[in-house]
Amino acid sequence: MKRLILAALLTLPLLVGCTKKENEILIGEYDSLTGSDATFGLSTNKGVRLAFEEINAAGGVKGKKLGLITLDDQGKNEEAASAVTRLITQNKVVAILGGVASGRSKAAAPIAQSNSVPFVSPASTNPDVTKAGDYVFRVCFIDPFQGFVMAKFSSENLKHKKVAILRDVKNDYSVGLADVFSAEFKKRGGEIVADSSYQAGDIDFKAQLTQIRSKNPDGIYVPGYYTEVGLIAQQARQLGIKAPLMGGDGWDSDKLSEIGKEAINGNYYSNHYTVESSDPAVTEFIKKFKAKYNETPDALAALGYDAARILAAAIERSPDLSGKAIRDELAKTKDFGGVTGKITLNENRDAVKSAVIIQVDGKNRKYISTISP
Ligand code: PHE
Repeated sequence: MKRLILAALLTLPLLVGCTKKENEILIGEYDSLTGSDATFGLSTNKGVRLAFEEINAAGGVKGKKLGLITLDDQGKNEEAASAVTRLITQNKVVAILGGVASGRSKAAAPIAQSNSVPFVSPASTNPDVTKAGDYVFRVCFIDPFQGFVMAKFSSENLKHKKVAILRDVKNDYSVGLADVFSAEFKKRGGEIVADSSYQAGDIDFKAQLTQIRSKNPDGIYVPGYYTEVGLIAQQARQLGIKAPLMGGDGWDSDKLSEIGKEAINGNYYSNHYTVESSDPAVTEFIKKFKAKYNETPDALAALGYDAARILAAAIERSPDLSGKAIRDELAKTKDFGGVTGKITLNENRDAVKSAVIIQVDGKNRKYISTISP
């Protein structure tokens, strides 16, 4: 039954979008709704839908309703590229919201760029993503900052001297973050005692972990996505490794604790927002999100919500619905009050924002500290 409802919910925006209506401004969204990081796309989509629903209830944009068509990239780069092509050529969307995984954004954003269709990524943090060109934006911080944040926390707060890295070599995000962490940690006088790798889809990490164990690190940096990280946490504990694991926003999913169980507890990751915030923008968002979906929003839901509202605001200000006009207004986004912080898009079309350090505690995400740029 639950599945049926989920399927209905997922196809709903698709159906709405397919019937292009006169009084509607059609926005395209693509993300992983299935696959090993499905919660990324599912959460983002929930945030986007909540934002559109509110905006439409308040009269829409330019007197028209916002329509949404969402395509599933199944967590694959090629599918992300073809989804964006389809949204542009078949559905003729005025702008695109997506994607989460940096690798998929890198594959898809150049298509939006070459068609002059504005592209707003809610959550892709790899610096290369917005280098696709002047139609490509993001509402989140970038990895040179995120990697710095964890290196600082590891060295200053956890007093680590020796850290091992375990990176997903097939993932642009993971590789980028691992490199930044490594450089920052060394700058602070720390030593990287091992730098091992895996590939998304792997299920056995014992060989790498055994090698890491022999170096006796104070901590292990694992900047991957939640499915592999959950398994890595389990196997690290099975091998008797007690050093804390540390990671980035790719850990942020309820599935992390489902997969990692107790083994993931006590470990740290950097993220875009905390549900413990007392900021009224955050508490109000959580309240509305829970009322609609009966679950606590993760960072992706919050970023999806912010990205959708920033895009809608730019369309509202825009003199017409051309890609150029919307792009120009997006570029002017300044001090936008988002759930994930105050958002100003800089000359590289990136947002400069603080990050939070979170400690995993079952399904709870314990807020530890905020680090500002
Ligand atoms: N920042 C990740 C990437 O670029 C995606 C992500 C963002 C995952 C936020 C979870 C939460 O690949």
